[in-house]
Amino acid sequence: MANAEDNAIQHQQALKQALIDLIRTEISAAGGQLAFDRFMDLALYAPGLGYYVAGAAKLGPEGDFVTAPEISPLFARCLAVACREVLSQIKQQHSGSNGSNNDPAGKGAVPSSGADLLELGAGTGALAAELLASLAAQGPLPERYLILEPSPDLAARQRQTLARRVPELLARCHWLDRLPDRFDGIVIANEVLDAMPVNRFQIGGAGQVQEVCVATDGQGFSDCLSESASPALQQAVLALQADGLATQPGYCSEINLRLAPWTQALGRMLGTGLLLVIDYGYPRTELYLAERNQGTLMCHSRHQAQGDPYRDIGLQDLTAHIDFSALAEAGIAAGLTVAGYTTQANFLIGCGIDALIAEAAADPMAMLELTAGAKQLLLPSLMGERFQVMGLSRGLNDLLLSGFSVRDLSARL
Ligand SMILES: C[S@@+](CC[C@H](N)C(=O)[O-])C[C@H]1O[C@@H](n2cnc3c(N)ncnc32)[C@H](O)[C@@H]1O
Repeated sequence: MANAEDNAIQHQQALKQALIDLIRTEISAAGGQLAFDRFMDLALYAPGLGYYVAGAAKLGPEGDFVTAPEISPLFARCLAVACREVLSQIKQQHSGSNGSNNDPAGKGAVPSSGADLLELGAGTGALAAELLASLAAQGPLPERYLILEPSPDLAARQRQTLARRVPELLARCHWLDRLPDRFDGIVIANEVLDAMPVNRFQIGGAGQVQEVCVATDGQGFSDCLSESASPALQQAVLALQADGLATQPGYCSEINLRLAPWTQALGRMLGTGLLLVIDYGYPRTELYLAERNQGTLMCHSRHQAQGDPYRDIGLQDLTAHIDFSALAEAGIAAGLTVAGYTTQANFLIGCGIDALIAEAAADPMAMLELTAGAKQLLLPSLMGERFQVMGLSRGLNDLLLSGFSVRDLSARL
């Protein structure tokens, strides 16, 4: 047993060293410094080596962090309410027409009901399994549950979870290697955007925009300041400053420059349906508050959070909060409508989390377990307010989702 553990540790250390060597080679090839988003890309997603692809447990109690679908099945059951509303609306709109997609998976083989589910970054598959189980119990069941997962390791774990939890529905699940050309239905991204590589900046003494890059430092890495920020970063920071944000010398934060292209790609793909993004973040004016002058970059390992991205490379998760105003703007630019924006607590309450707990009334132990999970999902001091939900839709005829009916915070964007 001890030997197996030693071997696992040695294997991890070898992967970590190989990843460090890879990053050092890139830094050297780039002339001594690397933009932070490229560093984060490699640390998280370098083939075979990055945090999300190298085989460690990552999510769940035995991993580094726990996400809402892992905390309680109530999260998926609430999202099932939103899915039901969207799928029913689309099916209703399509009734009378033949309602079929033109090979939305881009793979030619899978028939479609015209309204499906697509989960981006499905983690352990816990959300997919519970969501499918819930939709199977009460309908409507999407004909297909598509998953786009860049990590082969997590995709394998998702398959195992689904095979164990909902074997009769496994045939409906399909793993994609790229977005479909066209998709009608509901797209879910829970804690995906926070795992997207970001660029970091600092405001210099003379008010100039500096890019915080990565340089080698002994055997490891450290921040280094570049006086010539990339044009895209420069432009994004100047746009913040035009709104009176991120102006003080020394102010340091990060920007997700990949968010807009990501949203645009989803906007091009979405025919009729909803993109539901759940993540930690704020409207722009709150994300770039003067007091938040060190940004929100955070690293997670073994359920501990710390701020040094250069520690335990490849063995810790790196994340940053979402700018929900940027997401709304990118969605609108992509021809989508903001269907709602609220806190996770409001969303889950709107979906009827209390009634879902009450369904377990006959089983006191199950009821207790659900109540404990609900506390974590809802309390403002835990996930209730830090996590927020945004819906971006197209062609849903002003459908008001129950999740957004309690309190819409779109005016804060
Ligand atoms: C923090 S985990 C969240 C997993 C899961 N959604 C959950 O809530 O448990 C981030 C997930 O997003 C995936 N991911 C990262 N970038 C992605 C992208 N551009 N498209 C789809 N998935 C992505 C990762 O591989 C990982 O599965």
